[in-house]
Amino acid sequence: MNNFEFKNPTKIIFGKNTIEKLANEIPKDAKVLLLYGGGSIKKNGIYDQVKTALSNVDVVEFGGIPANPEYAKLMAALKVIKDENITYLLAVGGGSVIDGTKFLSAAALYDGDTPWDILAKNIRTHKGMPFGTVLTLPATGSEMNSGAVITRAETKEKRTMGGPGLFPEFSILDPQVIASIPQRQLANGLMDSFTHVLEQYMTYPIGALLQDRFAESILQTIIEIAPKVLKDPTDYKAASNFMWSCTMALNGLIQKGVPNDWAVHAMGHELTALFGIDHARTLAIIAPSHYKFNFEAKKEKLAQYAERVWNITEGSTDDKAYAAIEKTTEFFHELGIKTKLSEYTEDYEGTAEEIAKRFTDRGWKTLGEHQTLSPDKVEKIVKMAY
Ligand code: NZQ
Ligand code: ZN
Repeated sequence: MNNFEFKNPTKIIFGKNTIEKLANEIPKDAKVLLLYGGGSIKKNGIYDQVKTALSNVDVVEFGGIPANPEYAKLMAALKVIKDENITYLLAVGGGSVIDGTKFLSAAALYDGDTPWDILAKNIRTHKGMPFGTVLTLPATGSEMNSGAVITRAETKEKRTMGGPGLFPEFSILDPQVIASIPQRQLANGLMDSFTHVLEQYMTYPIGALLQDRFAESILQTIIEIAPKVLKDPTDYKAASNFMWSCTMALNGLIQKGVPNDWAVHAMGHELTALFGIDHARTLAIIAPSHYKFNFEAKKEKLAQYAERVWNITEGSTDDKAYAAIEKTTEFFHELGIKTKLSEYTEDYEGTAEEIAKRFTDRGWKTLGEHQTLSPDKVEKIVKMAY
């Protein structure tokens, strides 16, 4: 096991009717900016619950943050923060609203030339404006981690940011919010959280027995609850396990002491930036090709995953490892998610070259757990995913 440090300061308030506890978590004298997305919270009653809980708090609102939170829109919110002397941010939404709020938390206290530098120059945030979240969509784990992904439509870019100052102070997780989530987004959440675990697990053995079993247990739980969540999102037992699995998949715990990959996400983000494909679906496009291309480097973990998660016990290490990739692809299809780029766009020719060029231009010489995935290899993987 590798050496590691681990600190996660986010307080989780989990369970039925927990949104009513909101006011306890926000300083009494705060001036709050309530941030939300395209309006789903006004239809499903979450907005009303939040407003009721905050009836004695000074609140300004900013809605309309789109999926794949857009830089230009967030810059409008930043102006509100400055004009209104906001002291506390509250995100009510999924990963997009929470990530947008993290960007604002960083940008509000940033004194460089342009806040875009936080993304373009990888400036880590050690202190941001304090914020909390009410999670409406389990998927990203953003409610308990310190990372964010921001999109800039103008330049078709999607860039990551983060730092120890960007953990939410608290996150309220009421699994009852899942009842109103459309099938497409439920499938996305299952897909995204599943891949988060794979990115931190599907590398090479390093004797981290507990981390491996944490990861495998999250994968098994997602596989078990997926059909139930899709069939009936009001099933509280399935919904609560879904929500907690998504949080645990990316709150830092399972990645400590083990090699991490994250190349599937790096390539996937480019597909969202270029074609607007949902984040989770870009992962389903890239992951099978990525595991096939890196088969030799990953086959021991693939075979372990085959045995422990999918119960594939017959055959050689190679046989099991290959069967695991097939089984995983099948699982994505069962979620109703397509796994080839050509199934999402007709305009895919040249995509692999474009992504490889972007990585080269950014100086991203290598990716992956061995830091051996150079842009020419990225190009091959994306081509395999056509
Ligand atoms: O905008 P509204 O109207 O609220 O509708 C949203 C949105 O259209 C809807 N929705 C959310 N909660 C709902 C609901 N509809 C009905 N009932 C509810 N309770 O769902 C749609 C998608 O929301 P979004 O927040 O975009 O989804 P998700 O949580 O999947 O977030 C995706 C974003 O997070 C980033 C992705 O790249 C993408 O930009 N990620 C963030 C990560 C992180 N911070 O750690 C890691 C991930 O790998 C990912 O990259
Ligand atoms: Zn993801």
